[in-house]
Amino acid sequence: MKLSGNILSMGGINMDFVMYAERVPVPGETVKTDNFNTFSGGKGGNQAVAAALLGGNVKFFGMLGNDLTSSKLIEDMNEKGIDTTSILIRENNTAGVAMIWVDKNGQNSIMFNPGANCLLMPEHVRAHSSLFKAGDILMTSMEPPEETTFEAIRIAKKNGMLVVVDPAPAPEVKFPDDIPYCIDIFKPNETEAAKITGVEVDDKTGTEKALFKLHDMGFALPIITLGNKGVAALIGKRVSYFPAYTVSSVDTTAAGDIFTGALTAHYGKGKSIEESIQFACAAAALSTTKKGAQTSVPVLSEVEGFLKLHQ
Ligand code: RIB
Repeated sequence: MKLSGNILSMGGINMDFVMYAERVPVPGETVKTDNFNTFSGGKGGNQAVAAALLGGNVKFFGMLGNDLTSSKLIEDMNEKGIDTTSILIRENNTAGVAMIWVDKNGQNSIMFNPGANCLLMPEHVRAHSSLFKAGDILMTSMEPPEETTFEAIRIAKKNGMLVVVDPAPAPEVKFPDDIPYCIDIFKPNETEAAKITGVEVDDKTGTEKALFKLHDMGFALPIITLGNKGVAALIGKRVSYFPAYTVSSVDTTAAGDIFTGALTAHYGKGKSIEESIQFACAAAALSTTKKGAQTSVPVLSEVEGFLKLHQ
């Protein structure tokens, strides 16, 4: 397929409220921290910003409220060069919010309330099917209702788009049988891959078993991100491994989203899947050295410089 370089990004946009502390509280415990920040986030928003800063021409499709937080989230995406004119605004509703705890190793735990993101329905996708253009890429995660994302995937494939799906958070429902065949690149992390396949992804054997199971389910090109253990992908009939870069991580929030945005932007420019995964590994690693979600996306020159240094 000849790609245009245009990316239609769909998913959730949230405001993140982040506490940094030595460790996260256990049930019943209160932990004090003097380190609190708010950042623009949401898996969809983070992917879109990563794709836009790393070479993609990005338009966003999703739903927000008419509150001040929604306006701020849109403003931040506009600043990064994302076309936000197709974001639908739902009156008397609010943006999604996420409460995030980050421990001293940069590991995060997240709870989120999707707000207006979860009011995006399949009929909204159908009403805006003209956004789904042949040769463009649909890049989506799963924060809006599952049936809405499934409808977008179907329309994208029917209209001749390349479809990249990051199944985060892992869907609570089974993928309808036709959906895997509509997806060109499928990028779960190890937890999502385990939930979707029923295979434990805790060692090399489990990872490979999950990759082949995903392939049997109909996902043409499954890529599993394994945190600091790197990435495993089933490319053609072979499993390829991409080691993670070692960096000093302060906050791993959104690293997976940034991986997906970077991968999509690079692949959309005509790079090979191997080059695109390598590029995405570098972007994701760099993002963990900075705090926050959208604020932690590196720019193209940083990723290119980093890759040169680590050849
Ligand atoms: O993946 C990180 C994101 O998950 C955060 O930005 C938060 O908003 C939640 O959606």
